[in-house]
Amino acid sequence: DGGTHVPAVVIGTGYGAAVAALRLGEAGVETLMLEMGQQWDKPGSDGKVFTGMLKPDERSSWFKKRTEAPLGSFLWLDVVNRDITPYAGVLDRVNYDQMSVYVGRGVGGGSLVNGGMAVTPKRSYFEEVLPQVDAAEMYDRYFPRANSTLRVNHIDTKWFEDTEWYKFARVSRDQAGKAGLGTTFVPNVYDWDHMRREATGEAPKSALAGEVIYGNNHGKMSLDKTYLATALGTGKVTIRTLHKVKSVRTQKDGSYVLTVEETDAYGKTLAVKEISCTYLFLGAGSLGSTELLLRARETGALPDLSSEIGKGWGPNGNIMTARANHMWNPTGAKQSSIPALGIDDWNNPTAPVFAEIAPMPAGLETWVSLYLAITKNPERGTFVYDAASDRADLRWTRDQNAPGVAAAKSLFDRVNKANGTIYRYDLFGTRLKAFADDFCYHPLGGAVLGKATDLYGRVAGAKNLYVTDGSLIPGSIGVNPFVTITALAERNVERVIQQDIKTK
Ligand code: FDA
Repeated sequence: DGGTHVPAVVIGTGYGAAVAALRLGEAGVETLMLEMGQQWDKPGSDGKVFTGMLKPDERSSWFKKRTEAPLGSFLWLDVVNRDITPYAGVLDRVNYDQMSVYVGRGVGGGSLVNGGMAVTPKRSYFEEVLPQVDAAEMYDRYFPRANSTLRVNHIDTKWFEDTEWYKFARVSRDQAGKAGLGTTFVPNVYDWDHMRREATGEAPKSALAGEVIYGNNHGKMSLDKTYLATALGTGKVTIRTLHKVKSVRTQKDGSYVLTVEETDAYGKTLAVKEISCTYLFLGAGSLGSTELLLRARETGALPDLSSEIGKGWGPNGNIMTARANHMWNPTGAKQSSIPALGIDDWNNPTAPVFAEIAPMPAGLETWVSLYLAITKNPERGTFVYDAASDRADLRWTRDQNAPGVAAAKSLFDRVNKANGTIYRYDLFGTRLKAFADDFCYHPLGGAVLGKATDLYGRVAGAKNLYVTDGSLIPGSIGVNPFVTITALAERNVERVIQQDIKTK
């Protein structure tokens, strides 16, 4: 495909990208998807596609010499991380000056590594975050469409109450209850029936074998099994893997030219190609799409792009924390890696928090209760292009996470007080630290809807150029974000195909 022209290119294969490709394919538009990561369908020498969480090999990480797991320590010992060969593995940790961001790499983007929690945001908060979007249309049409196409399903609550695999969640629920806090079941794209059969031995174990952040070998309906499989089925969509888009420019006729580097899985450059297209969809995620747009603006390739590009970034208020339970209150050596419950204190007027009750599937009793708190931190960061490194740097300081830490602390102080427990200080690095305020799972913003783009993701100052991913959401959505990213992409691409694209 070097030097060729295609009608539509979609950069990336995450949620927003997958929606765009499926709907373009259905409309009969030849579409090429360019993904910097690998297709995860071939087993390694151990017979498995993905490596495990406890003894990860090179498949775990995107070009690292050592794994960089979110829980890097236990009793302050660096027992979790391993030395590995740099390789096109599935989980990346992009380290900016004062914030690190975890993202998935491969066909399916974040869906390959995430916890699968499929949460539709509270309507009132959606309206607060994206007031220009017709919420009625979203909740009547696009959220249901996203949920069904993603194959979101619900846990059998009777099984949940009985199974040893969710003891950790029941313990956390009881403790939250003692502090007057309510919990809610969280839908997922992991097939709960598969998980139940894992427990009885009828299906191979994945969630029940601790697999998640380095990929699930079974059970999870990641995008390659849903949106992308259907997109390929249209016969109009092609995916090229290990193809990284380096830059975007325009030609006189208004078409786009992409400079694309193809590598092998160890990073050796195989080819540098130029691919041109009429319609260009950016689905490279908050970090990837923002960087491509900033680079294009700052190098003069697309000089008319808005000064809003790079702004409005946030970590969705992510703060991770853990509590230590009493010896008589174990959380279980057996823990499903897929979260099933959240503590819902979002209606709290001073410090709203939605806290996922996260597992710690260590394979042994740890007495730990772990949480990923989503807080309503109003602070925002900005991406700035650095010409010397040709990278987008994130201007975000650690103290900008103080409101998030304060909200999480306010909630878990109440839980600790009601249960006579304390925080764990040994899990987030080699110093005393109870709140992980230096990394996130939910990067949002950078090309915000209605600011850097119009109300349907059309990039301001360019024609036939669209943002379709998490970059559109201004830094916070109050729950785990992929359902919102998917539903918003559904809404936008429907309009764009109707109004902008010549279909046959
Ligand atoms: P996404 O990041 O999914 O996809 C972008 C794709 O573009 C990637 O495949 C990337 O490799 C590719 N790309 C980037 N730059 C490129 C370039 N220049 N050229 C070619 N390809 C390029 N959310 C949720 O709702 N529920 C959950 O339970 C969780 N849990 C969770 C756990 C962990 C560990 C992580 C890291 C994340 C989550 N998330 C989550 C977050 C969720 O996964 C995330 O919000 C979405 O994947 C974002 O979707 P996007 O479409 O924005 O991009």
